[in-house]
Amino acid sequence: MRVHVADHPLVAHKLTVLREADTPSPTFRQLTEELVTLLAYEATREIAVESVSITTPVAPTVGVHLQEPRPLVVPILRAGLGMLEGMTRLLPTAEVGFLGLQRNEETFEAITYANRLPDDLSGRQCYVLDPMLATGGTLVAAIDYLLERGASHVTCVTLLCAPEGLKVVEQAIGERADVTIVTASIDERLNSKGYIVPGLGDAGDRLYGVV
Ligand code: URA
Repeated sequence: MRVHVADHPLVAHKLTVLREADTPSPTFRQLTEELVTLLAYEATREIAVESVSITTPVAPTVGVHLQEPRPLVVPILRAGLGMLEGMTRLLPTAEVGFLGLQRNEETFEAITYANRLPDDLSGRQCYVLDPMLATGGTLVAAIDYLLERGASHVTCVTLLCAPEGLKVVEQAIGERADVTIVTASIDERLNSKGYIVPGLGDAGDRLYGVV
C-alpha cells in the first residue's frame, strides 16, 4: 500500500479553514470540493492512458487519451458524496458508482446498506472517496468489495487519516493488491469515540447537517 500526503500550501490553508469548528456548512462544502480537486490531481498521477494520433491546426502529432474502460469513481455514502463534484471536475468522463457503508458506532464495523456498482470491474481503475479514514473499517470493506469484482487498482482519496486506520488498511490489504491512499493530512490519533484528533469533527454532519 502506498500513502501520499499532498504537501502544498493551498491544501494546508484550505484544510485549516475546514477544521475550524465555526466554519459554516456552505463554506465547508465549497472547501471540500476545492481540496478534493487538488487531491485528485495527485491521485490521478498514474491514471492509465493510451497514445493517440491527432492533427493540430499546424501538424500531425501524437498525444494521449484516457484508456478504456473508463475510471470508476466511488463515493462512500453519505460523506463521500461531498467529494464527488471536486473529483469529477477533473475526471468528467469517469463513471460513478455508489457504495453505502455505515459504521456501527459501538463496534466500528462497516455495514453495507446500498450498492450501485457494476458487477464486473475487471481492468478498472477505481477511485474511492471517503473524507475520513478513521478506524479503517469502512475503507477496508470498500476496497475488498472493489477487488472482489476485479478492480485492477484502487486509489482512496481522503481528507484526513488517523495513523491507527492506516495501519488497519495496510494489514488488511497487505501485498494482495495495488492500493494507494491520497490524503491532505495524517493526524495525531483516534479518540475513544473513533473520531480523528485534531480532525474536523463529523464530516457528514458538517457537510449536510445532523440527520
Ligand atoms: N468520521 C468522521 O466524520 N469524523 C471522524 O473524526 C471520524 C470518522
